[in-house]
Amino acid sequence: MTIHVVVGTQWGDEGKGKITDLLAKEADFVVRYQGGNNAGHTVVVGEDTFKLHLIPSGILYPNTVCVIGGGVVIDLEVLFKEIDELQQRGIKVGYENLKVAKTAHVITPYHRLLDGQQEEKRKEERIGTTGRGIGPTYADKIARTGLRVMDLLNAEWIMGRLKAQRWEERLTAEKQPDHKQVVADLLALGQRVAPHLVDVSQLIFRAHHKGKMILFEGAQGTMLDVDHGTYPYVTSSNPISGGACAGVGIGPNQISEVIGVAKAYVTRVGEGPFPTELKNDTGNLLRERGAEYGTTTGRPRRCGWFDAVVLRHAVRVNGITELVITKLDVLDGMAELKVCNRYLHKGQVTDEVPAELPVFAECEPVYDSMPGWNEDTSGILDYDELPLNARRYINRISEMAGVKVTLVSTGSRRRQTIKII
Ligand code: GDP
Ligand code: IMO
Ligand code: MG
Repeated sequence: MTIHVVVGTQWGDEGKGKITDLLAKEADFVVRYQGGNNAGHTVVVGEDTFKLHLIPSGILYPNTVCVIGGGVVIDLEVLFKEIDELQQRGIKVGYENLKVAKTAHVITPYHRLLDGQQEEKRKEERIGTTGRGIGPTYADKIARTGLRVMDLLNAEWIMGRLKAQRWEERLTAEKQPDHKQVVADLLALGQRVAPHLVDVSQLIFRAHHKGKMILFEGAQGTMLDVDHGTYPYVTSSNPISGGACAGVGIGPNQISEVIGVAKAYVTRVGEGPFPTELKNDTGNLLRERGAEYGTTTGRPRRCGWFDAVVLRHAVRVNGITELVITKLDVLDGMAELKVCNRYLHKGQVTDEVPAELPVFAECEPVYDSMPGWNEDTSGILDYDELPLNARRYINRISEMAGVKVTLVSTGSRRRQTIKII
């Protein structure tokens, strides 16, 4: 009877895909609970790289059932493209191993177009969204005008919902798609998804009571959480562990471990404040060494030093019980490493993330300096064989977070992982 949640502790792209795939080896179910195809989770197996956007990162194990929970927003065109591509590469994706919540909301072409139109209108205040229609779809969900996957089985219901969404008022004339075509396409997609549909809450409840191992895979990261991130520069869902309860339909007391994934430095893609950002050669070096370009949009990621203030915030809002540090190898060869443990704002020191965005935007990081290491850590399997300064770096992070580090990742492949016992 085990439910573990994997959550991102920063602004996304911490390596959740790699870690979920690794832990999925032991899992009977891997469940996405929020977000949509704004996510890009990379899993590398041997010479093969898989970039997953909607399908949970357990799909590479034929006996693991992957589930898309009701808290996810689904672009069915993207889902089927992903299924087709995986099948072409010899991966089994069928009705038995991919289940979709009947209640998940649907991203339509209207939502995608509105996402782009809103960003254009925001000009300098743009959020830097992934342009996948995520925000507008969640907006319709909350406004009670959303279209759910199960609704696609009925043409009249689709038309009624689209009418309720009042696209003629929301989209400019030149952006209006062909209404009849949209309805026909949604109906066809509904037919195709129908055999995958289930009640996810019931499925997971029963599996849990049968003693199955269940992994919830977070997308995005804590600082992109609509309630606990850098609002309004956030996504439109709750990536935090609590989001898993609502997004799947289970009680919080069913979750036994919350595994926080933290990159050994920090990245952010899109707009919004980022206190430890390095707009210099060191930032460029991290981007090149870490191949920090968006998995979904290809945009260069902004890079900076490790931020323990952000990590402690993540530990608190998620109830993190263990930490995984990824991409340690990217720091190999750096003479000096900096870790931010406090911020300075107008002469005042703070060790918390302020809720006020303008204050957060003005926070200056206060750094502890640590010596780096020269050795190549990417092939090391045993924690004790890591260079002393690398172990000190990990210990320092653990100490600042107040949580034990159980795994260290030193490369994108499965075996490039060190277990700390
Ligand atoms: P996610 O969105 O959290 O799943 O992360 P992404 O897949 O968007 O980005 C993480 C990137 O880092 C991917 O290209 C991974 O293959 C890669 N990666 C994961 N762990 C490691 C690691 O320990 N070292 C290195 N060098 N790359 C890693
Ligand atoms: P994974 O799961 C990094 C960011 C976008 C933008 C903001 C809002 O791969 O870690 P949205 O399209 O969600 O309305 O965009 O959130 N964002 C991500 N950044 N990783 C992600 O997912 C992200 N998903 C959304 O760049 O700043
Ligand atoms: Mg990603």
